[in-house]
Amino acid sequence: MQGRTWGLRLLLLLGLRLGSQEALPPPCGSQIYCHGELLRQVQMAKLYQDDKQFVDMPLSSAPDQVLRHFRELAQTHNLSIPRQELQMFVQEHFRAVGQELQPWTPEDWRDSPQFLQKILDPRLRAWAGQLHQLWKKLGKKVSVLWASQRGWRDSYWVMEGLLLSEMPETVKGMLQNFLDLVQTYGHVPNGARVYYLQRSQPPLLTLMMDRYVAHTNDTTFLRDHIETLASELDFWTKNRSISVSSGGKSYILNHYEVPYGGPRPESYSKDAELAATLLEGNRDTLLAELKASAESGWDFSSRWLVGGPNPSSLSSIRTSKLVPVDLNAFLCQAEGLMSNFYSRLGNDSEAAKYRNLRAERMAALKDVLWDEDKGVWFDYDLENEKKNLEFYPSNFAPLWAGCFSDPDDVDKALKYLEDSRILTYQYGIPTSLQKTGQQWDFPNAWAPLQDLVIRGLAKSPSAKAQEVAFQLAQNWIRTNFDVYSKKSAMYEKYDISNGGQPGGGGEYEVQVSGPHPPGSFGAVLSP
Ligand SMILES: *[C@@H]1O[C@H](CO)[C@@H](O)[C@H](O)[C@H]1NC(C)=O
Ligand SMILES: *[C@@H]1O[C@H](CO)[C@@H](O)[C@H](O)[C@H]1NC(C)=O
Ligand SMILES: *[C@@H]1O[C@H](CO)[C@@H](O)[C@H](O)[C@H]1NC(C)=O
Ligand SMILES: *[C@@H]1O[C@H](CO)[C@@H](O)[C@H](O)[C@H]1NC(C)=O
Repeated sequence: MQGRTWGLRLLLLLGLRLGSQEALPPPCGSQIYCHGELLRQVQMAKLYQDDKQFVDMPLSSAPDQVLRHFRELAQTHNLSIPRQELQMFVQEHFRAVGQELQPWTPEDWRDSPQFLQKILDPRLRAWAGQLHQLWKKLGKKVSVLWASQRGWRDSYWVMEGLLLSEMPETVKGMLQNFLDLVQTYGHVPNGARVYYLQRSQPPLLTLMMDRYVAHTNDTTFLRDHIETLASELDFWTKNRSISVSSGGKSYILNHYEVPYGGPRPESYSKDAELAATLLEGNRDTLLAELKASAESGWDFSSRWLVGGPNPSSLSSIRTSKLVPVDLNAFLCQAEGLMSNFYSRLGNDSEAAKYRNLRAERMAALKDVLWDEDKGVWFDYDLENEKKNLEFYPSNFAPLWAGCFSDPDDVDKALKYLEDSRILTYQYGIPTSLQKTGQQWDFPNAWAPLQDLVIRGLAKSPSAKAQEVAFQLAQNWIRTNFDVYSKKSAMYEKYDISNGGQPGGGGEYEVQVSGPHPPGSFGAVLSP
């Protein structure tokens, strides 16, 4: 399947000032984009190849008017509206996708940032120079309320790239938008579409702030927004905590969970059809678990299918029943950063509070997720009361996040990497060793997951770990460079089984490969 190019997607959401506009709906309260008869009829008629297309189309008239006209149409046809009539209705009341995204060149873009001079190989330097040019094409300004897309989970890595390109003002704009969303909704939604409001992003906002502050020393910005960062972490505590018993003790950790039924609006017909294969009483649970998986960013993966009645089918998905290593490592890191932030701002009591939260989580990571035999951390299956011993790069997240206290853990994790034969994959680290056809599994490899393993090892004082990190980084750069040389494009994922090709497979691929106009989503990167 043809992969979409979106390697360096950058959706800046400038101009998005939520709260100051029309009254905002409750989480996914929209009768048009979230649930209701109009959504059901349009999606089940499959007017578009990709269900995401319809829910991304902006309205061309007021919502009540659209709903009123729809009720009239439905009445005329006694609810069985002919396909052609439905098509005309959509054309009359909705606009094409992507019209709300305006091209925009970031103001702080400059030629020749310093990092380019540090690249010795002239071919790699020329390539990096071309990638730096792409920021100008990837910037998108959003002019309506519910614009933007999924894919924010990559924002932290996009920000690292922007800082390398010396564009802190652009990073500040992105941060400001996320902080505004937290102020309005209490968490960072999966995307700024109304239908994403029930689902969060993985908690990387505190880390984004840390990177920005480390680059700029902008303590004022930190001071102004520290409470918003705290409220985002409160969301994870209040809405996504889970108690785990292990070895006679009880621990509080976090999981992905979206306690709302109904099909995902952007994959409505697929979800509805999958749910129809189950008994009616089990459908809402399935639909909620599909959303939880979307919240994790790993939609879909054997990680969330493990331990169910039929681990080769999506209908077995049970995301919320697993305690994920990476999520808890992200939170542990965020708690440490919050403690540092509060110290910097002179608030010792809050600094101590977060220091304690981090210490508790470190203990839980060690006692519940760490496996001394294998020498790495694993997701914990709450129902089956055991770890999922499969390989995933996320198993290394505590190294990356600095959330371990025993220095020997690095060498053990390195040995685990060798034991799993991961170093034999010379084009990149696979997402798993299981070939399920889901896109977050073998043979696909993703840049953020390479980073989780590589920088985790590179930070270690162990020479061996650093050497392996260097080798893994070189493998990945080579795969990206070779594909770029052939296709003049960067891809979101690569198939590492086949000499490093653009990756494919899975449900999400189908979602994003719909007929979006060029530039509306993950612009094609051409030199
Ligand atoms: C509308 O549909 C319902 C149920 O499908 C049926 O009982 C009713 O007779 C129909 N009415 C008209 C006017 O066709
Ligand atoms: C989080 O929990 C609170 C209280 O139970 C609830 O009001 C809120 O809607 C939840 N947030 C989300 C995004 O589900
Ligand atoms: C940030 O400020 C601190 C203390 O004021 C100073 O020591 C440090 O060099 C500054 N860093 C940058 C990147 O400006
Ligand atoms: C520390 O932060 C908390 C939470 O924002 C606030 O209530 C408290 O007043 C702050 N204390 C100091 C000394 O600034």
